Amino acid sequence: MVAAHRLPVAWDERSGKWKTSPGGLVSALAPVLRENGGVWVGWNGGPGGDTKSFTAAGIRNRPVVLSESEVENHYDGFCTGTIWPLYHDAIRPLEFHRHWWHPHQEVNDRFARAVARAAGPEGKVWVHDYQLQLVPAMVRQRLPGARIGFFLHIPFPPVDIFERLPWRRQVLEGLLGADYLGFQTRRAVLNFAAAAREITGAQGPASALEYDGRLIRAQAVPISVDLAQSKAAGNAPEAKAAAERLRNDLGEPEHVILGVDRLDYSKGIDLRLRAFEVMLQRHPELIGKVSFIQIAVPSREDVGEYQSIRRKVEEMVGRINGRFARASWTPVHYLYRNYSFEDLVGAYLAADVMMITPLRDGMNLVALEYVATRADNRGALILSEFAGAAERLTDALIVNPYDLDALAVALYEAVVMDSVEQTRRMSRLRRTVGRLDVHTWARQNLEAIEG
Ligand code: UDP
Ligand code: G6P
Repeated sequence: MVAAHRLPVAWDERSGKWKTSPGGLVSALAPVLRENGGVWVGWNGGPGGDTKSFTAAGIRNRPVVLSESEVENHYDGFCTGTIWPLYHDAIRPLEFHRHWWHPHQEVNDRFARAVARAAGPEGKVWVHDYQLQLVPAMVRQRLPGARIGFFLHIPFPPVDIFERLPWRRQVLEGLLGADYLGFQTRRAVLNFAAAAREITGAQGPASALEYDGRLIRAQAVPISVDLAQSKAAGNAPEAKAAAERLRNDLGEPEHVILGVDRLDYSKGIDLRLRAFEVMLQRHPELIGKVSFIQIAVPSREDVGEYQSIRRKVEEMVGRINGRFARASWTPVHYLYRNYSFEDLVGAYLAADVMMITPLRDGMNLVALEYVATRADNRGALILSEFAGAAERLTDALIVNPYDLDALAVALYEAVVMDSVEQTRRMSRLRRTVGRLDVHTWARQNLEAIEG
């Protein structure tokens, strides 16, 4: 029994088909449920709708319905306006509203009810991510005999940031209702354990926190990609043909740089574009020879901060293109849409440089996917030190995205990197990623939940 806020598919009226929901959580968890069975309890993505279970894309879905005001206050408000920036190092101003918190509790309670009904008294329940942090304790109250696990896909902030949350104790108590808590990085585990000790009076190390007469284990079990799927997608003749077509459509530039993100301020898309601009200014010999493709997946479009980052990115694209374009060459190709994984792989294979520059990111699966699909051992990866993936992908060009000079220098280094150095780094990266499969991640978590 899995509870994750957003169901893996949503009905698309226009095409009359199910479409895959955006984000790394769905990319990672969908193949796990497809392989192991289990039910996904989640939100259908809109206000209202039906609670009737259905099967789509090989997964059994059990919808939880939110009203229009819950979408506004719980989802756009508490999840997106409070917890998301708080957990990403408070990189945007934080908003705390009681009229967001109350619906947030109600929605968590509704998820807990749906899970408890479906799981049964001795069931095994796996709750996911920051939107459902109150669910573990709420399920425990209803099913004292169940085994309950939780996985946080995003960072957990240092206690001096976390403690600003007016409902910090309730959130921690919610999480401590689990038997086991999984995190992306060691740093997140330490931050969580420190907050639990300081704020709730829990005792002991992260691996054996004592709280309310129970023992809770918190552990870093970083998520990964479906290696078999990535390998197959990377080797597919269609993907190779799509990569060739893309380079051809771009006018056969010497170098292709790629960025792939949900359009989120945490991803540092603006800083990356600025670094590209600085590089063109410093190296005019690259003008006409290098194309930057930015795929930006629409995300949380009703929220003001997301509208502003979109405006900012679009203005920058316009400015850079206005400044450097020639009749026969456009520096930045900006694509505001969600591609299928198969189409995305065409872009991965076409990219000489993959640029991943989040200001803070739980893991960043795009980084792992780029490596996993590059069976040709080519391509250069630029990776922010603030992505969880940087803990393991140490053979990437690791950068501080706030350091514009360093970013522009790393970009130039990646663009001119010779094939020997590309292969040296990529083969080591591939060895690292080759040891990390999402099915192993799931198995480790499920074993930990069993205790
Ligand atoms: N993705 C996709 N289509 C796109 C862009 C991205 O399917 O057009 C997928 C990508 O393959 C990856 C996920 O979206 O699996 C993004 O996950 P990541 O961890 O990088 O970031 P998140 O969106 O979860 O913050
Ligand atoms: C990230 C989060 C997920 C979330 C996804 C898309 O991957 O970790 O929990 O579902 O972004 O965000 P959204 O707000 O559209 O659900």
